[in-house]
Amino acid sequence: MTELTHPLATVPRGELVARAEADPHRPRFHFVSPAGWLNDPNGVSQWNGTYHLFYQYNPEGAFHHRILWGHAVSTDLVHWEDVPVALEPGLGPDDTDRDGCWSGVLVNDGGVPTLVYSGRHGERELPCVAVGSPDLLSWSKAPENPVIAAPPAGVDITAYRDHCVWREGETWRQLVGSGIRGRGGTAFLYESADLRSWDYVGPLFIGDSSGDQEATDWTGTMWECVDLFRSGAGVLGGPGGPADDVLVFSAWNDGDTRHPLYWSGRYSGDSFEPAALHRLDYGGRYFYAPQSFKDESGRRVMFGWLQEGRPEEAAVEAGWSGVMSLPRVATQAPDGTLSFAPVPELERLRTGHVQLPGQVLVGAVDTGIAGKQLDLELELELSAGSTVRLGVLGSGDGREETVVELSLAADGSSGTLFLDRSRSSLSAEEEGLDTEPREGPVPMPGGRVSLRVLVDRSAVEIFANGKPLTARAYPVLDGGHVTLAAEGSARLLSFDAWTMGEIFGGGRVLFP
Ligand code: FRU
Repeated sequence: MTELTHPLATVPRGELVARAEADPHRPRFHFVSPAGWLNDPNGVSQWNGTYHLFYQYNPEGAFHHRILWGHAVSTDLVHWEDVPVALEPGLGPDDTDRDGCWSGVLVNDGGVPTLVYSGRHGERELPCVAVGSPDLLSWSKAPENPVIAAPPAGVDITAYRDHCVWREGETWRQLVGSGIRGRGGTAFLYESADLRSWDYVGPLFIGDSSGDQEATDWTGTMWECVDLFRSGAGVLGGPGGPADDVLVFSAWNDGDTRHPLYWSGRYSGDSFEPAALHRLDYGGRYFYAPQSFKDESGRRVMFGWLQEGRPEEAAVEAGWSGVMSLPRVATQAPDGTLSFAPVPELERLRTGHVQLPGQVLVGAVDTGIAGKQLDLELELELSAGSTVRLGVLGSGDGREETVVELSLAADGSSGTLFLDRSRSSLSAEEEGLDTEPREGPVPMPGGRVSLRVLVDRSAVEIFANGKPLTARAYPVLDGGHVTLAAEGSARLLSFDAWTMGEIFGGGRVLFP
């Protein structure tokens, strides 16, 4: 048992699940924790056919404290079953993970499921290992913990945690996320024969934190949750090009979780040669700390954490915080950039198909579509200088609406995806909601755009020609109306809409 109850633990434990379930903003087809706090996806994997999703979890309430590893399993990446919590902080005063079991990964150590995670003690984190039963339901911490005693000596680091671990020939390799004060984020590379004893190799690559701190691609002073995927290993495509490998990280600065980014480049020997830096999701902090894995069919599947856009006190009152993204498949274009699409398995949740006829869009169109759990698929053709606006979560009378905007530049050369949340919620000001807009470039050859929008109450995931923008919105008026309007000349080639089902049938237990 924990010694002290946290000051934010204001909702009695016994009431948390019911509170969370009663919240109209709680998603119904995204994975959420039974109640309490959720952050990063951890140990994402497929093991003997079953998908495993572990996550940073605090069942004490909707705040980040004394983190455990929650655990859920799935056979289809759509429906999830809660199974017992995998890791809990140690109870001994000297335990490396006494103050939290922070992010990490699952690896297959010759048939033995093994977790590598960050044990938190006081203000610092160190690498730890835990070994699982064959069904992955019970875990024992390695007696050798911490398996790395300290960060590299003589380096002034900003932080040191989170792990990417893979097998290369006869050895294990590991990256630990970090940052070098005054220089930039980094990932330290290590090597081991047994996952227990590690040799430091050096920094894989060091970023540059001197740029514009406000920029949407500022690389931060520390890299959280580094995730290296090597296309040479057959994960994304053909080997050989200068931009074939991908290094994903979440840019962090002194407690501020900024945004996920990735370098395309080339991993070889002991270093990573970057080719280009890219934004991973235009929602920034709303798709944070992503982690990916290669599933048994060879797909690169990624999950991310959708942070809240309402203040901590509101989440604490609601009894829950944090949404896991829908699993998305990453594919790589020849130029090294990534494209994303929700896994096709999610289509199983679709019901009530509605189609709008193809048409030239002039002004506003009455879609007649409404719902708070929707999957929308549009094919559009924009003329140069035109804009198409798709409103979701609308009140129907214009007072509330969250607007997805696509535009093609006047010279037709570039496209933009923009999310306007200025009218998402009537109570934005009094509740202190984040209504900042989000935007990013989208390639639109010939003005063509495939737009997919998944709305799940407060969670919105948008994919425009494979470029994702994830965010949160908290409307207070009912309705869920969908509107469509154009400015300039645009054609709607097709519009398919479905209502999405629920993935939990109630009956969740706070501490599985
Ligand atoms: C990212 C992160 C990780 C850390 C975990 C703690 O959101 O800060 O760096 O391991 O969350 O919960």
